[in-house]
Amino acid sequence: MPHLLEAISLKRLFPVKKDGQTRQLHAVDGIDFHIAPGETVGLVGESGCGKSTLVRLLTRTLDPSDGQVRFRNRDIGLVRSRAMALHPQRKDIQMVFQDPTDSLNPRYTARQTIAESVRLLCGLRGAEAAARVEEAAGWVGLPLALLDRYPHQLSGGQKARVGIARAIVSRPALLVLDEPTAALDVSVQTVILQLLERLKQELQMSFLFVSHDLNVVRLLCDRVLVMYLGRVVEAGPTDAVFHAPAHPYTRALIASLPGGLAGGQASAADLLVGGDPQSPIDPDPNRCRLLGRCPRGLARCGEVGPQLEDIGGGRQVACHYPAVVQHVRQ
Ligand SMILES: Nc1ncnc2c1ncn2[C@@H]1O[C@H](COP(=O)(O)OP(=O)(O)OP(=O)(O)O)[C@@H](O)[C@H]1O
Ligand SMILES: [Mg+2]
Repeated sequence: MPHLLEAISLKRLFPVKKDGQTRQLHAVDGIDFHIAPGETVGLVGESGCGKSTLVRLLTRTLDPSDGQVRFRNRDIGLVRSRAMALHPQRKDIQMVFQDPTDSLNPRYTARQTIAESVRLLCGLRGAEAAARVEEAAGWVGLPLALLDRYPHQLSGGQKARVGIARAIVSRPALLVLDEPTAALDVSVQTVILQLLERLKQELQMSFLFVSHDLNVVRLLCDRVLVMYLGRVVEAGPTDAVFHAPAHPYTRALIASLPGGLAGGQASAADLLVGGDPQSPIDPDPNRCRLLGRCPRGLARCGEVGPQLEDIGGGRQVACHYPAVVQHVRQ
């Protein structure tokens, strides 16, 4: 199946001052992955590993330092982030932000917020636009009576629905969600996740779903990407990765969940060693980023930076000593 979106050796460095010198913070440090039409991909990894930076590169609100973002086989990474607002492909890649309160204009009613998106992305006004707004409100379960309210007159869950309606009203091919439920109460999170699950079935969009919550990713996503300090360390079908994670970092993440690793308790070799993560500033390319925290780290890990390699079953891992995995039938 052709890829809908593809990242090729994608990088974003940020210059930072350290000890009076300008150094480079490697927020996204050479990432390759793809999303197929209709596929839901989860992106997980600890705070600061580069998830939001990657999302901003893919949605073209931030310019890459190097590498490509290809959408329907066209390199959109070269379109400057400012010019992207006018790009014909803008409407095909839409985003739902973490905090619905921050991301809604307090001076716009829900109707105006969604209509603005229809006008900018689809070039529609008047009755046609109004019909699209109401259709999108229906998709997200937002009662029409609420459309004329301002954000401060809506609950957190209702604002989240407005944010989702605004993103899907242009019927994008790809919806990118960066921690879409993190700012919501737990009970509302569940409702919004059920809504996303339903939209996924009904609208046949591709989703890129960023979450701290591995259980949510397990529930919603066909495939999962695990990031660590600017790199993808493991990628593969969600069931297979959760059943038998291959990378020591993924094993530690899954071992920490209730239920833990399949087949019983995690052994000491499945828990991260204490200590701080390495710095993302000018990291040594010849050293594995997990070294120092990795229970398996050996001399080679300090001499050769592991690359993402295929291990069969649609899975990839960047580790010199991955756990042996048994492939799960899909
Ligand atoms: N504009 C910037 N200037 C300098 N450094 C930045 C900038 N934006 C992000 N960073 C750094 O890039 C790294 C990745 O940040 P990013 O926000 O992508 O992480 P994240 O995985 O989304 O974290 P979280 O889970 O906390 O949202 C961090 O070290 C962050 O401090
Ligand atoms: Mg983030």
